Amino acid sequence: MSAEASYQLADVEPPETGQINETSLNGRDLIVWKTEKGELCAMEARCPHQWTHLAYQGVVSGEEIICTTHFWRFSTAGEGCKENVKGRRDPKGNIDVIPCYEQDGKIWIATTEGED
Ligand code: FES
Repeated sequence: MSAEASYQLADVEPPETGQINETSLNGRDLIVWKTEKGELCAMEARCPHQWTHLAYQGVVSGEEIICTTHFWRFSTAGEGCKENVKGRRDPKGNIDVIPCYEQDGKIWIATTEGED
């Protein structure tokens, strides 16, 4: 693992709070979204359950993004779970999260080791 991450400018507008925007970087489909408290997150665009694209079937709820296909939810750390009607949360598959930051109205996303 390298000590310093390398970042690339993403071709995407910074999301407003609660908004999900899609982009790609080095051929990898990603989403960039912002929690209701304003935390920025870049992650894989496809839900690890059945590959639903989260830019189209995702919704931000508080500090999580929910895949509306089967209601798995993911934190900004990529931890997946499903909440039942009584509020019990069962762990589900996790999703890759990519370090990112916003500066001067642009989004910068960490490149992944081994990519072109
Ligand atoms: S495809 Fe996302 S929860 Fe099933």
